[in-house]
Amino acid sequence: MKANVRKAVIPAAGLGTRFLPVTKTVSKEMIPIIDKPMIHYIVEEAIQSGIEDIVLVTSRHKEDLERYFDYNYELEDRLMKAGKVEMARGIRNIAESCNIICVYQKEPAGLGHAVGCARPVVGKEPFAVLLGDDLIDAKIPCTRQLMEVHANAGLSVVGVMEVPLSETSKYGIVGGTAMGDRTLRVETMVEKPAPADAPSRFAIPGRYIVDSSIFDSIARTKPGKNGEIQFTDALLDLAKSRGLLAHRFEGDRYDTGDRIGYLDATLTFGLRRPELREGILALLEKHGKALR
Ligand code: G1P
Repeated sequence: MKANVRKAVIPAAGLGTRFLPVTKTVSKEMIPIIDKPMIHYIVEEAIQSGIEDIVLVTSRHKEDLERYFDYNYELEDRLMKAGKVEMARGIRNIAESCNIICVYQKEPAGLGHAVGCARPVVGKEPFAVLLGDDLIDAKIPCTRQLMEVHANAGLSVVGVMEVPLSETSKYGIVGGTAMGDRTLRVETMVEKPAPADAPSRFAIPGRYIVDSSIFDSIARTKPGKNGEIQFTDALLDLAKSRGLLAHRFEGDRYDTGDRIGYLDATLTFGLRRPELREGILALLEKHGKALR
């Protein structure tokens, strides 16, 4: 089946202060989970969802991101000459699996502003937005699940998950009317509310399918929380002008922007690798024992 959403925007211009000092010179999206940078997992989700063009919204200090999705002739050549054909192919595939288009966010003016920077590339098509700090492990990729809701309802849709009330201040939170088991019609949205101000416990962990009219909403959005153009505020504008759904996707989400969430993801994905599983289990046992 040909996807009706062909483009994805991945905002990746942030400074990554939660991972300093490494992010002094390495983009946070390049920090590996085992041996693959976080951004690679996000790009894989997009590709597995049927996305063909990926717009990376980045900034001038983050060339390592652009380079990762380029060829590396010298390395490939050396690997081939050393008979490591599979390895060479793997490296090449990263550059060939989709079209990566980089645009700059010239000033750190917020997530809404970052998505707005992709307008000249996206044009008038619906598109996906995937945030790099949120890794979602799902049988059907989360973006694909949202694309299906978008195709069936003909409305923009955000992915949501239920969080404890004590955690609402970490996320954009939606409120609205239930439409069936897993879907809400969004009536309100608040960026990182205190528990008392949260309209529900449905939080957005960084997955969205939006129609191009979101760009007009972003253009209308005034600076909000932290003086930034918040994507959540632009989405609320879209909800009011065109309608917006929230869909409870199936899958597990890891907050890889947080050091403990990052370790959780590393263990989860590491334990799935047959060549690492036993070694990791032995390490867990060793450290568990040491603490007892
Ligand atoms: C951003 C969004 C927020 C969303 C979150 C998901 O916040 O502004 O609405 O819930 O990502 O990770 P950030 O975590 O970048 O501050």
